[in-house]
Amino acid sequence: MKITLRPENKSDLEAIDDLLNLAFAFDPHSHQNEGAILQRLRESRKLLLSLVAIDESGELVGQIAFSPVEIDDGSPEGTQNWIGLGPMSVNPRLQRMGIGRQLIETGLKEMKSREVSGCVVLGEPGFYERFGFNTYENLILPGALAPFFMARAFNGEVPGGIVHYDPAFSTD
Ligand SMILES: CC(C)(COP(=O)(O)OP(=O)(O)OC[C@H]1O[C@@H](n2cnc3c(N)ncnc32)[C@H](O)[C@@H]1OP(=O)(O)O)[C@@H](O)C(=O)NCCC(=O)NCCS
Repeated sequence: MKITLRPENKSDLEAIDDLLNLAFAFDPHSHQNEGAILQRLRESRKLLLSLVAIDESGELVGQIAFSPVEIDDGSPEGTQNWIGLGPMSVNPRLQRMGIGRQLIETGLKEMKSREVSGCVVLGEPGFYERFGFNTYENLILPGALAPFFMARAFNGEVPGGIVHYDPAFSTD
């Protein structure tokens, strides 16, 4: 199946919401707030990249987002230029067909070209390890279970520190 990837535009927003509702409906780790997170990121201009996957019929079947994270490493300025991957999803009807891979590989390549230092992700290790993500003992996301919080450096080493996602990810 031929899939086209492109950045989201305004006319995609309803289809993205529908996709997120469908893909996260039965995810026990989801707070069913992925659409709200994306909307808050858009409004605060923190949505660095949202790529959508479009199938041959024009249907939006996948999406991936990136936003800045702060890493508190104890220094006054913190670790700069790190991003978080997520949310990402593929229509359950079309999962395990390589669409997620295309979204991640293209998304990471684009973010790397923007001189980002590295990326963190909270998710399924069996999936994200395929894309170079690993756990690091000294890089901590408060509240997250260690095996599910991973990082991948684009330049240099993975820093140690406490990671803070954008407030848009808050579940309050
Ligand atoms: C996670 C998700 C985005 C993967 O998308 P996908 O299109 O099914 O992924 P792909 O088909 O490109 O899979 C890429 C590789 O990962 C493997 N894989 C897919 N899902 C996996 C999983 N949950 N665990 C382990 N491996 C997985 C595939 O077998 C494939 O391996 P291969 O390249 O060796 O054949 C999709 O399953 C999804 O939307 N899940 C629900 C929402 C979610 O959990 N999102 C992530 C948290 S933000």
